[in-house]
Amino acid sequence: MQFIDEILEKKMFGTAILAAQAAGNLLIEKLNTTLSIDFKGRANMVTEADLASENLIVEMIQREFPDHQILTEERPQIENASDFKWIIDPLDGTTNFVHGFPMFAVSIGLEVADQMYLGVVLHPTTNELFSAIRGKGAFLNKQSISVSSVETLSLSLLATGFPYELDANFFHNMELFKRFYSKCQGVRRPGSAALDLCYLACGRYDGFWEFGLNPWDIAAASVIITEAGGQLSDFHGKDFSIYKREILATNRKITDEMLNILKN
Ligand code: IPD
Ligand code: CA
Ligand code: CA
Repeated sequence: MQFIDEILEKKMFGTAILAAQAAGNLLIEKLNTTLSIDFKGRANMVTEADLASENLIVEMIQREFPDHQILTEERPQIENASDFKWIIDPLDGTTNFVHGFPMFAVSIGLEVADQMYLGVVLHPTTNELFSAIRGKGAFLNKQSISVSSVETLSLSLLATGFPYELDANFFHNMELFKRFYSKCQGVRRPGSAALDLCYLACGRYDGFWEFGLNPWDIAAASVIITEAGGQLSDFHGKDFSIYKREILATNRKITDEMLNILKN
């Protein structure tokens, strides 16, 4: 891992927070207004709010770090010969946003030399700001957070999400939903993967799994989970990667029980 001095770290973290807050304010202004909407698939929408939020965040990051790479959901990657790559979801939970359902987030992560370095996830309707810098703990606003200490699946609350398309992943996940549901206290599917993971990081859920997510959905939250003491893997217990398209996140205590259900 490349050496990053405190001044640079502070500037990058500060920029991520300012950009998330500016984007959050923009989303609140646009919430419950009439929006122009395009469809990327059957139920997969992109609205003027997604695009405006993305433009704002990219501008703020480029102003401070013109040489860095930027991967965002709604435009082609900005490629540069740099080890620093910002990974951004300008509006995670677009369907919720369009319907005025208040579970949506702004997610801004920074990868350095192929490893997640910091992450910021803002829930604009509650002003909850989840954040972490690698090796420095995870926070909800200014409060340090950690995953739950629930020991067994039978005492756990879980969360998942479903893909937009009614594809093989969708039907497989319906089966997994049934299996998990019968073994735990409940399964939630609020519709923002970034927030789901942050809820796990602060102990509101004990486990989360989902297929088919993109790096921008989980990059920022993955470092928040790790710093909160959580465990990340694929569905076979192998190494996690934000590029792998399957994620199991737990409080560490229920990993084996969840892997058993995912395997069968
Ligand atoms: C979606 C949300 C949702 C997940 C979908 C994602 P978007 O992101 O994270 O929880 O189930 O797979 O695509 O499209 O609202 O940014
Ligand atoms: Ca997303
Ligand atoms: Ca999005």
